[in-house]
Formats: sequence, C-alpha cells, structure tokens
Amino acid sequence: MTNSLRVRLLWWLLVPLAIYVFVTGKAAYDNARHTADLVQENTLLASARMIAGEVEWSDGRLLVDIPPAALEVFASPQGDQVFYNVSVDDGRLLAGVPDFPTRDAAGHDAPDYYDADLHGKPIRAVGFVRQMYDNGAIRRVLVSVGKTQASRDAMVRELWRPQLVRQIEMVLLAVALACIGLTFELRPLLKVKKEVMDRDPMQLEPLRVERLHTELRPIVDAINQCIARLGLQVAAQRRFIADAAHQLRTPLTLLETQLQFARQHRAMEPSLNETLAAMQRSNRSMVGLTNKLLLLAQAEAADYAQLARQKVDLAAIAQDVIEDLAMFAQKREIDLGAELVESAWIIGHEGLLSALVYNVVENAIRYTQPGGHVTVAVMRDAQRVTLTVIDDGPGIPAEARSRVFEPFYRASADTEGTGLGLAIAKEIVQAHRGQIVLAQREHPDRGVVVTVRFTHLS
Ligand SMILES: Nc1ncnc2c1ncn2[C@@H]1O[C@H](COP(=O)(O)OP(=O)(O)O)[C@@H](O)[C@H]1O
Ligand SMILES: [Mg+2]
Repeated sequence: MTNSLRVRLLWWLLVPLAIYVFVTGKAAYDNARHTADLVQENTLLASARMIAGEVEWSDGRLLVDIPPAALEVFASPQGDQVFYNVSVDDGRLLAGVPDFPTRDAAGHDAPDYYDADLHGKPIRAVGFVRQMYDNGAIRRVLVSVGKTQASRDAMVRELWRPQLVRQIEMVLLAVALACIGLTFELRPLLKVKKEVMDRDPMQLEPLRVERLHTELRPIVDAINQCIARLGLQVAAQRRFIADAAHQLRTPLTLLETQLQFARQHRAMEPSLNETLAAMQRSNRSMVGLTNKLLLLAQAEAADYAQLARQKVDLAAIAQDVIEDLAMFAQKREIDLGAELVESAWIIGHEGLLSALVYNVVENAIRYTQPGGHVTVAVMRDAQRVTLTVIDDGPGIPAEARSRVFEPFYRASADTEGTGLGLAIAKEIVQAHRGQIVLAQREHPDRGVVVTVRFTHLS
C-alpha cells in the first residue's frame, strides 16, 4: 500500500463504508423483492378469486364467463402478459390456455403460489380451487392465473434503487469531506516543515507552531530538543575558537614586538641575537599549539568503527613514549620508572594512542617537583588493559580536577603549556571507547594517578 497518509486514511474509511453499503444494499434488495412479491401474489389471488366466483352450473354442466375486471387488475406500463386456465377435475378445460403449467395442491383449499415457465417465459402463478356442488356431485374447479415478471421487477427496482443511490452519494460525500478535512488538518504539519526549511543555518531558537495538534507536539518537541543540543554544540565550538585565537594572539603579539625591536637595534649584535632567540621561542610555542589543535581535531574526528581494523600493543607504545621522554625527565630530575607487561593488545590508532600516553606522562613529569618519582604501568587481565601514570607531585586541587579535561583549562599558570593535553587525551580515549580517570593521592604521598582502561583483545 502507498505511504501517503491521505490515501491510507481514505482506505480506512472506504473499506468499512463499502462493506456497510453492500450489507445494507443487500438487505434493502431482499426487502424490496419481498414486498413486490406480496403485492403481485395478492393481485394474482384477487384475479383468481374473481374468475372462480364466475364458475356456475348450467344444465348440469359447469360454465365460466371471464369478467374483464379479473384481467384489468394487471394493467401496468410494463405490459405484462397474463395467462389463465380454468379446468375441472374430470379434465375438462372451461377457459384459458390449455398448456398452462397448472399445479393442483390437492387436499387443501389454500391458494398455491409457484414459479413456472410458459411459452418460454418465466411466470409467477397461483392455483386456486373452488368446490362446486350439484345434486350430490362435487366437482373441484382449479383456477390458475399467471403473469410475466416485468412489472414486479420494475417495482423491485423502484423500491430498491433510490436507497442504493442515496447510500452511494453518502459515501462519496464522506470521501470528499475526508479529503478536504485532511488537507486542512495537515496544514500545521506543512507549516512545521516550512518553519524548518526556511531557517537560516545559525538560527537556533526552538520552533514555535501555533495551534498544533496534540499528536504533532512530540515531533516538534523532539526537533526542539535537537536544536537545543545543536545550540550547545555550536556555543562550545565558538568558545573553543575564541580561546584558540586568544592563545595564538599572545605569541603573535610578542613576535611583533620582537621584530620591531630587532629592526630598531640592528647595530647592536648581542641584543639582536637575544631577540632572535625570543622570537624562536614564540614561534615554537605557536607551532606547539597548532600541532595540539590539529591533534585535537584529529582525535575528535576519529571513529571507533574505522579504528576497529587495527590492533596495537599498548605496552610497546608506552615503552616508546618513556624512551622519548627520558631526556626530559632527566632534565627535570625526575625518576621515571616503568612496570609494563610484555604485551597488551587493544584495538586502536597507534599515533593517537601514543599522543595520549605522551600527554599524560609529560604532565606527570612537568608538574612534579625535581627529585620526584613518576611510574608508568601497563597491566592486563582477561577483559581489560589498564594504563596508570602515578606521580608524587603537588597534585591537583579538587575544584580544578573536574575542569582539567576542558580545552584550554590550566591549573598551573607558572609553567608553559596550552591546556589542551588532557582534552586531547580524553577525546582519544573516547574514540577508543575506553575510560580515563584522574584521581588525587592523599596518603601516604601526594600526587596524581591517571588511570586509562581499554578492552583487552586476548
Ligand atoms: N600530573 C599532574 N600533576 C599536577 N597537575 C596536573 C597534572 N596533570 C595535569 N595537571 C594540571 O592540569 C592542567 C591541564 O593539563 P593539560 O590539559 O595537559 O594542559 P597543560 O599541560 O598544557 O597545562 C595543567 O595545567 C595542570 O595544572
Ligand atoms: Mg599537558
């Protein structure tokens, strides 16, 4: 069946109505037939009685004189043919057509109605018996009258047709009204559609549709919820761009000042050298920030379904990161230790997972005071692979802990950084359907424990 609401509703209306019209039409037809048959039989009987009334004895013989009125009762515009037959039980024909299909329901005097054929035409007939007495003799005279069916069929049609026509008209009217009604009632839906289509892309207010049907409310509510979520997303992205621009502006402004200084002090070579070194630092910090922004974008776009084709060993990745950061740890006088299982296979993207481990371990080294300890561990059991990075640094205050995963949020303004490291880490963990938890150690030492869990591919 088609998917048009209009057509489907019309079917729901039309099928029961058609059944109703059929059933009542059939009943009306049966009724009309019954009535027409009664009328016809009454006329047949009246005619037969009239003829029977004219049968009389004359000189010991039975005679009949057919009264014209007996046949006139059948006069009709349909011009039905009427036949009769008057015969005595000794076989003598008193009047009428000899080959009339008589039927003597012997034994009782009630009129006998029946259908028969005469000269190839179907007729309805009545047989009526009259007993005639004379000098102790009893004769049974059978008067049969029959007529063709044209006027009776016409009567059935007259009784039945108007009723049928009225009902069909009613059905057509109902269908027309339903079509018009649906067109009217579907208007709010079209209005919702227009509202949605006409919006410009950044218009994020909820839809307002007046006089909406109760049935349509949930749809509009769902659309509005979707718009609200979109609004939050857009706001977060705007904030992100503003923050990123702000972060880039600082090194760019510095670079500008440094360039100006270099041009003014071309002659003084030592200071020029210093300026160039400062410019290089600014530039490096911009390159670093840009790289992190790119990594964040890459992590946000990563899709588990796509990653699912690659298998990586998290223990090997952690080993490589520890080797990369060994110099940095040494410079900061941090004792960097490792407890790694020989292999820990998970599904994932090697580059992204490497960036995740790097960011977490680098934080631990960067924010722990010289002489501190950082331990990187990769463990596995049947279901899970767990990475923990533990340090004995100052830790993170409770109010900051809930925000460290936000982009650009930094709890330590005195060290250099972008505030993107943990945001990137979280995106990467989410892309791999893992969990990341950052907890504070209280006793016996202070410090931070970062725990990351993934599904183990055994
Ligand atoms: N191991 C840690 N010990 C103490 N503070 C930490 C640690 N890891 C992260 N932080 C705090 O969380 C903040 C956010 O970290 P991150 O997102 O990596 O940004 P960034 O390191 O660039 O500042 C840091 O500024 C720091 O204050
Ligand atoms: Mg960091």
